[in-house]
Amino acid sequence: MKKLSIFAISLLFAGTAMFSSCGEAEKKKEEVKEVVEEVKETVKEEVKEAVDYTAMAAYYTATCVACHGANGEGNEAMKAPALAGENAKFDAAAWEKTIKEGKEGTIMVAFPDADAPNLVKYLNEKLGK
Ligand code: HEC
Repeated sequence: MKKLSIFAISLLFAGTAMFSSCGEAEKKKEEVKEVVEEVKETVKEEVKEAVDYTAMAAYYTATCVACHGANGEGNEAMKAPALAGENAKFDAAAWEKTIKEGKEGTIMVAFPDADAPNLVKYLNEKLGK
């Protein structure tokens, strides 16, 4: 009888230990899943940003360089202001508007097809850096 109860108790312990370690494993699995999701999100964002910047660089080179310069330094002969570097007076909202609508009475025409927010972000953060 004594032997049996010891056996039963040790079985109970073993069972509990197994059960709780199983719960631990589930918890760890959830944690790992969460971390993986976070990493996935970060990578996705970074890739998207890299793609956006590459696209914006291509767009800038094809469309804006002639007047605003390869590094956004501007062009006095064109009366085109700097869009990067120390001389750039950065104003995101105003710039987006200028890109979308142009500046009447100047050679800065409207670029309604431009992805203005990303373009401005690119000018501010990447061009000439
Ligand atoms: C044909 C020449 C020309 C081209 C091409 C051109 N710009 Fe301009 N841009 C100008 C001129 C000139 C001005 C100044 C207008 C004024 O007098 O207000 C200007 C002004 C701007 C401004 C306002 C800057 C500030 O400090 O107020 C932004 C932003 C701008 N351009 C962005 C662009 C972008 C982006 C492109 C390409 C999609 C582009 N421009 C293409 C000539 C040009």
